[in-house]
Amino acid sequence: MDLLPAKTPAALAETAASRIADLIAARPDAAVVVATGNTPLATYRVLGERVGRGDLDASRLRVFQLDEYLGLGHGDDRSLYGWMARAFLHPLGIPERNAVRLPSGAVDPDAACRAYDAAVRDAGGFDLAILGLGPNGHLGFNEPPSDRAAPTRVVTLSPESVASNAAYWGGDPARVPRQALTAGMDLLLAARHTLLLVSGAPKRAILRRALDGPPTADVPASWLHLAPKVTVVADRAALTDGAP
Ligand code: GLP
Repeated sequence: MDLLPAKTPAALAETAASRIADLIAARPDAAVVVATGNTPLATYRVLGERVGRGDLDASRLRVFQLDEYLGLGHGDDRSLYGWMARAFLHPLGIPERNAVRLPSGAVDPDAACRAYDAAVRDAGGFDLAILGLGPNGHLGFNEPPSDRAAPTRVVTLSPESVASNAAYWGGDPARVPRQALTAGMDLLLAARHTLLLVSGAPKRAILRRALDGPPTADVPASWLHLAPKVTVVADRAALTDGAP
């Protein structure tokens, strides 16, 4: 794993956006799995600005949703697909028909997971995974313990993830669905390039465990040591004791 330290969250966003833009320039129709959560939002804003200036064309990307709450009704404002559409697809000028969803309202969630796996396979696997780090070391919603071969599946959220996700929806844990769909560890670890974006002092201890290893199901992000090419972009607060 390569570590790219960034001084500030803004520097992190610039660094990560440049990496992503380089990859898009080299492969305009890359298959990219895209995290929501707070950490990558500034990066997506920088990419959107580059698209707006005409410096980047992302319109041919094939985009895969990383994770989704299970059982939300149509138009529910907690949809992680909706979040991805607002934060990534629309600002980058990517048509929604280019996106592969993990469907929150699936009647048969297991069949939906198999359909997602088939779509990833048809795309030739992920060229790029843009990931955040859960406070408990999860990737997507691969909660600890998650084996390195854990497939795309239905998961029950840990109390820690319910608590951290509550912050997205006004702070009320009751607003967080208890089950979710997640892209599997197997698919994520096979991505040809992974960018793990980590910001802020609350992530410092879990980032340390992910970076230092050894790879363990108890810290799913630590499996990234086994992935082909991983770049961790982390700000000073996430890396250094006593950082502001
Ligand atoms: C959430 C999501 C992940 C996200 C991670 C970090 O629970 N399931 O996809 O990457 O936790 O989120 P944040 O960037 O808001 O810290």
